[in-house]
Amino acid sequence: MALRPADGAGIAAAADRLRSGGLVAFPTETVYGLGADATDDRAVARIFAAKGRPRFNPLIVHAPDLAAHRAWAVFDERALRLAEAFWPGALTLVLPRTPDAPVSRLVSAGLDSVAVRAPDHPVAQALMRAAGCPVAAPSANRFGRLSPTEARHVAASLGGAVEIVLDGGPCSGGLESTVLSLTGETPVLLRPGLVTHESIEEIIGPVQTAGAGSAVDAPPEAPLESPGMLAAHYAPRARLRLGAGDALEEGEALLAFGDAPVAGPAGTAGYAAVRNLSPAGDLTEAAANLFRMLHELDALAPAAIAVSAIPEDGLGAAINDRLRRAAHRA
Ligand code: TXA
Ligand code: MG
Repeated sequence: MALRPADGAGIAAAADRLRSGGLVAFPTETVYGLGADATDDRAVARIFAAKGRPRFNPLIVHAPDLAAHRAWAVFDERALRLAEAFWPGALTLVLPRTPDAPVSRLVSAGLDSVAVRAPDHPVAQALMRAAGCPVAAPSANRFGRLSPTEARHVAASLGGAVEIVLDGGPCSGGLESTVLSLTGETPVLLRPGLVTHESIEEIIGPVQTAGAGSAVDAPPEAPLESPGMLAAHYAPRARLRLGAGDALEEGEALLAFGDAPVAGPAGTAGYAAVRNLSPAGDLTEAAANLFRMLHELDALAPAAIAVSAIPEDGLGAAINDRLRRAAHRA
């Protein structure tokens, strides 16, 4: 694996690797992606192998803009309005595949739909334009583990499987894109993310939530409609204790939010370590810090990570979604 600065030479080398069927990790505004040429079956298959990801879980196809995506996805009026409002950006649309869509069937994992996104990051944009192909890319982590928001997170978890990691610094958003299905009459939010439910409803009206109740624990026989909604996901090695109140237990690390004071266990030196997602209680800042701070605390191997309560409104919905999945033990 080569960790390379995301400069002109690095981007050119990465585009070259993509065109010849290789795997390249690159920054987006949400998290780092593990990319392959989406038109190349063998390259896409290598993504599943590298991540240890089940084949029933489909991949997002990335391209620079709406015009490119129209070659493999059917955009209705709602999809056009959303692409207009949020692209480039952190909204992934699940749409019907076009007949003879020129992207691998593997990205759809047996479904008739394809997930599409135009990322808003200069390195991702330059890479896709240089490669000249759509890029299939899940988050660049081993299946079920924490998503990477820095190049070194990718190097640590997928270093052996990826040829080039483009280092574009920390991701500004820090949480994955919002995944919205428009394959039926009613739009369905499959995964909360950086683009809020409320802001989508402002553009297209009522959106249904797949919700925590739809989370599944076991791989299904048939393709899942929302295959990413596995209950256990984004897992750190340490156990997570959510909604921690004002006192911690022996050996716990604390992931705090806002300025509420939290005390260590009585009669001890206190907790293993503390990170604060946002001392000011700002949800955007908290989202950007979430995975990095979980990575940092997890690396200290605490008895558990206690997490302060986080409000459920706006971006809080996506943050709490990731925390609940990270806390779930199958
Ligand atoms: O922010 C992001 O979305 C990042 C960056 C790299 O773009 N990518 C990412 O990919 O998070 P991944 O594979 O970790 O998550 C994609 C989600 C999964 O939950 C997957 O099940 C869902 O999108 N998905 C993809 N294609 C789908 C489809 N055709 N129908 C339903 N869900 C789909
Ligand atoms: Mg992922």
